Amino acid sequence: MALALFSILVTGCKRASLPDAASPGAQLYVSRCGNCHVPYNPHEMTASMWDTQVTMMESKIQAAGMPALTSDERESIVEYLKRNAGTE
Ligand code: HEC
Repeated sequence: MALALFSILVTGCKRASLPDAASPGAQLYVSRCGNCHVPYNPHEMTASMWDTQVTMMESKIQAAGMPALTSDERESIVEYLKRNAGTE
């Protein structure tokens, strides 16, 4: 019983839809940041952590030979992540 509840919580969490999923920033986030791993929920990190994270991911994108984020794409993704970021 406890185990069943736990797995519902865990999968429920992983599949929880992203905040403001219909916004252009969210859609860009999913298309640029959701192809190597599931897109993390913006709540999982603080705004300043997202800055660092996106920079780290830009080097992964480059290493994978994928097209780099344009400055517009980066701005809109970071804006989306920060707008929905967690507070701790
Ligand atoms: C080229 C593949 C690739 C793309 C595209 C990519 N990531 Fe990642 N990401 C990874 C890998 C691999 C990891 C595993 C952690 C590591 O190796 O540092 C990761 C881990 C993460 C983590 C977890 C870090 C942690 O400490 O738990 C976050 C958050 C993240 N990525 C966000 C993003 C965001 C935001 C974008 C879009 C800007 C993005 N990723 C695009 C490959 C990618």
